[in-house]
Amino acid sequence: MSDYQHLLKPGKIGGLTLRNRIIMAPMGSNYAEQDGHCSERIQAFYEARAKGGVGLITMGSIAIAFPAGTAEPFQVGISKDEFIPGLKALTDRVHAHGAKISVQLQHAGKTAVRDLAEGRDLWVPSMPPAPPKSDIMQSVTLKELSTFVRPAKDTPVKIRVMDKADIAQMVEWFAAAAKRAQQAGFDGIELHAAHSYILAGFLSSYYNKREDEYGGSIENRARLLLEVIAAIRERVGQEFPVWLRLDAKELNTPGGITIEDCITVTKMAEKASFNAVSISAYATITKGSAFTDAPLVHKPAGFLDWAEAVSKDVSIPVIAVGRLEPDAANDAIANGKCDFVAMGRQLLADPELPNKLIANRKSDIRPCIYCYVCVSQVFINQRVKCAVNPRTGKEFELNVIMTDKPKNIVIVGGGPAGIEAAIAASSRGHNVTLLERSKRLGGTLFFAALAYSENGKLLDYQLKQLAQSKVKVKLNTTATPELLKSLSADEVFVATGASRDMPDIDGASLNHVWSGEQLRQLLTGEVSPSTRSQLGPLQRIMVGSGNILGLTKQISWLQKLSYLWMPLGKRVTIVGGGLVGLELAEFLAERGREVTVLEESQNLGTELSIVRRWRVLDHLKDLGVSVVTEAKVTTIDAQAVHYQVKEEKQSGKADTVVMASGIAADRSLADALIAAGLNTKVIGDSDEVGYIEGALSSGYRAGLDC
Ligand SMILES: Cc1cc2nc3c(=O)[nH]c(=O)nc-3n(C[C@H](O)[C@H](O)[C@H](O)COP(=O)(O)O)c2cc1C
Ligand code: SF4
Repeated sequence: MSDYQHLLKPGKIGGLTLRNRIIMAPMGSNYAEQDGHCSERIQAFYEARAKGGVGLITMGSIAIAFPAGTAEPFQVGISKDEFIPGLKALTDRVHAHGAKISVQLQHAGKTAVRDLAEGRDLWVPSMPPAPPKSDIMQSVTLKELSTFVRPAKDTPVKIRVMDKADIAQMVEWFAAAAKRAQQAGFDGIELHAAHSYILAGFLSSYYNKREDEYGGSIENRARLLLEVIAAIRERVGQEFPVWLRLDAKELNTPGGITIEDCITVTKMAEKASFNAVSISAYATITKGSAFTDAPLVHKPAGFLDWAEAVSKDVSIPVIAVGRLEPDAANDAIANGKCDFVAMGRQLLADPELPNKLIANRKSDIRPCIYCYVCVSQVFINQRVKCAVNPRTGKEFELNVIMTDKPKNIVIVGGGPAGIEAAIAASSRGHNVTLLERSKRLGGTLFFAALAYSENGKLLDYQLKQLAQSKVKVKLNTTATPELLKSLSADEVFVATGASRDMPDIDGASLNHVWSGEQLRQLLTGEVSPSTRSQLGPLQRIMVGSGNILGLTKQISWLQKLSYLWMPLGKRVTIVGGGLVGLELAEFLAERGREVTVLEESQNLGTELSIVRRWRVLDHLKDLGVSVVTEAKVTTIDAQAVHYQVKEEKQSGKADTVVMASGIAADRSLADALIAAGLNTKVIGDSDEVGYIEGALSSGYRAGLDC
């Protein structure tokens, strides 16, 4: 019997029976065509999730008035009958795997990006309040900014406070869309009444200042929603499963939706014959990290208490969401806190999650590392991708096809790119050997796991998959042309990672100055003779003492040890404010160091996804880290780091200096192998510094393309 029997038992929403309690949360993906139609990309994406064993998919979010009211440039439309065939093909493909599928109907109101770009009115309940002060744009790069949607040329933003005719039109759009969804074979409908879109806008007394019967009391603010519910029921009949998504709360929003509002509205919807409620939340973005309070909560089971509060007061099923991982999800259902659990990011990371739970193979689930790459793609109006799963959104083009000509593939470098390539190539029937120079696999990911522990779960997962594969792993092995020839390599993949050069700064060779590579050695215990010579006697004993432990234990042991001891002084200056510098600053400041980050350019953490960058920068602020941009380091001496900001000379005391700049792709080994006549491909950071997402994606593609 599965350990997840509560999560995996069948359940009912209205008359709809689901094979288990796992629902795929609605996620706008930007996978439709520009004309709003569903073609192979989006169909294959959902089909993979259906095949993976999920009980119900909620396809989200779909534009009822397409192209008006859409929140993304590549959003699915359902505003005309011409959309039905593509949607029907999609629902057929999902049904073929025994899953059910519902559709989330949405009008984006004030955040309808296509209306903004194409010069149409933005529909609102009343003139929106001025946006609160926020520093989020400061950390967005110019390149990212260029992808943001702007008003159509020479057109001022047009706000349209909805009159009665507009309200009637909105009701009609929802009702007609619901009917089309039914015709397209969907098994149910979720009304999007959350996240500040139009229906939530009416529900919120922060956004709704109307003085007519649609504003004021909660009964009035819910009037539009109830009219939509009634119109949908009339159009789809009494038996068709229909529910709504609500915010339990609007955080950071004075006068915003409260849990009491949420419970009241749920009761109204129940009375109006709706069959379930999905409990999410929203936060006004007063600072970047607020987005990870809600709707994409970072805290595990972050909204569960609110789902439970609603559950206690209503008899329709409650769908909980918000970083509910399998154990917490199973317990939540077992303890009656909710009836169903919606999972979003975990199903982007691994569509097979339900099947793996059914088979009691939890440790084979590819873990979401909560890095926010997926949703940051939506911010920059690009198609969603997942950092840990290169196939997400590419199911239509990336498939494992067995080879009929097995080759000897030798992969040099056991970091994330090399491991991913090895597993993929081996799964296709090639003979794969993975060479790693050090005594341990994981490369940069091991170090990254120290700084951000979620990364460790990905490394565990990769190592488990590698151990289960037929890949031959050789540690402590340096790749030379002779060795590769002796292994009869038909193809060689070089995945040795980036180089981390010490910048040419006066004083950089002092003993208290560490390069990024040396720091990595110190923290992971793999100390080269030259780094060792910089250490004192006690430091030599401490460094490396983690090596006697197993890999995962090593990560958690090193993390714990690092709270007590690290070979670094109290005041640490990090030169370089990229991903490595910022995550390192977070790691050191959490361990009581006084940290300063000096970044030469204007931008910080550009390699981090926008949302994760916001989180890290806010966290650094909370930790009291001083971050200086446009700071060019001129000299380092025994006491201080001297630098220049524009024309102004400055300096800061430092006991330890870490050079976290100068990271570059490193093709040197590949060039040598090519010169020796070996058929060589370069992947991961050796080819282009792309960190986890880039490494896994290039590794996987290389494994499929050999
Ligand atoms: C890429 C992405 C797109 C999303 N788009 C929507 C959306 O269109 N409608 C919606 O109600 N929620 C949307 N969400 C929120 C999810 O439905 C879900 O509530 C949230 O991700 C928290 O669940 P999780 O922790 O399981 O990911 C989106 C989330 C992600 C990651
Ligand atoms: S991109 Fe990151 S946060 Fe999003 S699903 Fe993948 S691993 Fe999770």
